[in-house]
Amino acid sequence: MAQTRVAVVGCNGRMGKNLLEAVSNHEQAVIAGATERPGSSLIGTDVGELAGVGKLDVQVADSVDSIQGDIDVIIDFTSPQVTLAHVKWARANQVKMVIGTTGFTEEQKAQLADAAEDIAIMFAPNMSVGVNLVFKLLETAAKVMGDYTDIEIIEGHHRHKVDAPSGTALGMGEVIADTLGRDLSKVAVYGREGITGERDRETIGFATIRAGDLVGEHTAMFADIGERVEITHKASSRMTFANGAVRAAVWLQDKPHGLFNMRDVLGLND
Ligand SMILES: NC(=O)c1ccc[n+]([C@@H]2O[C@H](COP(=O)([O-])OP(=O)(O)OC[C@H]3O[C@@H](n4cnc5c(N)ncnc54)[C@H](OP(=O)(O)O)[C@@H]3O)[C@@H](O)[C@H]2O)c1
Repeated sequence: MAQTRVAVVGCNGRMGKNLLEAVSNHEQAVIAGATERPGSSLIGTDVGELAGVGKLDVQVADSVDSIQGDIDVIIDFTSPQVTLAHVKWARANQVKMVIGTTGFTEEQKAQLADAAEDIAIMFAPNMSVGVNLVFKLLETAAKVMGDYTDIEIIEGHHRHKVDAPSGTALGMGEVIADTLGRDLSKVAVYGREGITGERDRETIGFATIRAGDLVGEHTAMFADIGERVEITHKASSRMTFANGAVRAAVWLQDKPHGLFNMRDVLGLND
């Protein structure tokens, strides 16, 4: 099978640098282009040298439109507004997308679904294999214990993260709420302060920690009187997300259109 030609947008970001390395390491993928914010001092730099894999004769561009040569898939871990501009371009140019950006509003997510009628998009708030296995385990825990326990989700990330709760924590909440037939927008409680009154059994609580260089830690707790079950995932390197994103880019190759998540890529939705 031909190698998947990948463009990494936001290539100097925390995820961008890991993505360049992950694409370089993958036998079925090749870096076809990379971008940074217009005006960045990196524009024109050799992408291979930026990734630490030697000269590739591919220069950092200031937009996807300026990338020389053909692209099969854009991998985008930037911010919602920047990603939506890339989605518009990708739709017009029939290029697939792997989107890891978090913090989209419901209306913005609807725009992704709309674009996926024409192009293949894999959108996931967390691309690690372990977290997607956790999503699957949460379905089982919710089926067995969800109706009689108190459900709380606790997440921690580094001090630079701009959105809260994390997309992964919200994804965990959605999986649990869907399994229990609850509407997350009605039962979610985001932090507590002051005289809150007793806990309502139907609610799903979220607590957020922002500290130091935490890469990403998530726990879902199902607590009864006398026992509780905690399902925890801890990421220690961003390469786990980057490798998942490249795996998804290669997987998307034969998908003409549609909106997929990481569980589709890993075959966990069968
Ligand atoms: N799905 C997952 O598995 C996963 C894992 C980790 C993170 N994330 C999410 O991925 C996103 C990025 O996280 P991060 O920590 O990598 O952030 P980051 O370090 O701020 O990286 C974003 C990069 O995009 C660049 N950028 C901004 N505007 C641009 C434009 N118009 N064109 C091209 N590049 C542009 C930024 O440049 P400037 O610095 O100059 O603005 C920066 O280099 C966040 O939403 C985060 O929550 C998802």
